[in-house]
Amino acid sequence: MKALIAAGGHATRLRPITWTINKHLIPLANKPMIGHVIEKIVEAGITDIIINVNEGEVGSMKEVLGDGGRFGATLTFVEQRGGAKGVAHVVANAEELLRGSRFLFFLGDNIILGSIKRFVQRFEKEKLDCLLAFARVKDPKRFGVPEFDEKGNLVRFLEKPANPPSDFAVTGIYLYSDRYFDAFKTVTPSSRGEYEISDVNTWFIKNSTVGYEEITGWWKDTGTPEALLEGNALILDDTERSEFVAESTTDACVQGLVKIGKGTTISADCLIRGPVVIGDGCRIENAYIGPYSSIGSGVSVEGTEIEHSIIFEGATLRGAGRIVDSLVGKQATIMDHQLTHPRSGRRIVVGDNSSVEL
Ligand code: DAU
Repeated sequence: MKALIAAGGHATRLRPITWTINKHLIPLANKPMIGHVIEKIVEAGITDIIINVNEGEVGSMKEVLGDGGRFGATLTFVEQRGGAKGVAHVVANAEELLRGSRFLFFLGDNIILGSIKRFVQRFEKEKLDCLLAFARVKDPKRFGVPEFDEKGNLVRFLEKPANPPSDFAVTGIYLYSDRYFDAFKTVTPSSRGEYEISDVNTWFIKNSTVGYEEITGWWKDTGTPEALLEGNALILDDTERSEFVAESTTDACVQGLVKIGKGTTISADCLIRGPVVIGDGCRIENAYIGPYSSIGSGVSVEGTEIEHSIIFEGATLRGAGRIVDSLVGKQATIMDHQLTHPRSGRRIVVGDNSSVEL
């Protein structure tokens, strides 16, 4: 089997972070979001993986992910021609690579805890044409939603319905046979101008065999910083104990599950309380790093407390007080204005769409 990951789109609600980085490369527990997806797919036994990206983004994706060797996979990158024309279009765009295959289609901003092996096995064992994963949600209006008849049979799927017919969301984990391409031929763009995967899935109900599984432990990025922090926390909780390795020694007080990268120095006056991951080559002094924080490589922290935050690589925090529920982008600097001259006020260079709470 093959797998296709959707990693295009523009993620405008995550600006300014997504001005310079594709959303799927945002680090969660110090690993690009899409890296977690690739690992999940490889764990399910699929190693031939195609990654859909925006036009012009193959280079930057390849730079981060390489050829897939370090994941035990082979990665092929494909540009979505004509722009982000909808989730269903992502598969049609990769038809040349998928024709004749049965495949897993995974939306790159969906994170699932636990294994997807059993879905793949059931799909193959029952020779289904389509297998979907549903999750119970509080807000089905944001998703594709299945409708059932009074006997509990699937009737159709509605995309982001104003009046959801059930409290299930169709998650972004789909298994298809190559009948997908027959289905896609019948789909036209919706009122929001996108080829909707819900329309493809409805075609399968009417013309073929559809199975579904209910899953728990699913996280869907809603495109907000709060949601990213939730994803980061979920992944830290889901990380194997054996991965919390200290590759540098420290005399600091270290409590709970903490991963420390190579060449990182943490002075004895620090308290690190896990789950926390700290990258390589960081310098941490007189600081507290609290639960659910991911500190990227090359970060410098001094006289600052951090909790429930993602600090991207190369950032500097000095005398920055208590930083909570925050995202700090690559190479950003946050510093106490008392440490600089003149001492009269806060001097800020903030990029477009940034948000600062002073
Ligand atoms: O996450 C599950 C939901 O994903 C489903 O319940 C919906 O039925 C499905 O339509 C989809 O809805 P979203 O509105 O959440 O899709 P979004 O635009 O966020 O895109 C999902 C992923 O696909 C994301 O990783 C970006 C990528 N993408 C999206 C589009 C529209 C592409 O690669 N190309 C595209 O053209």
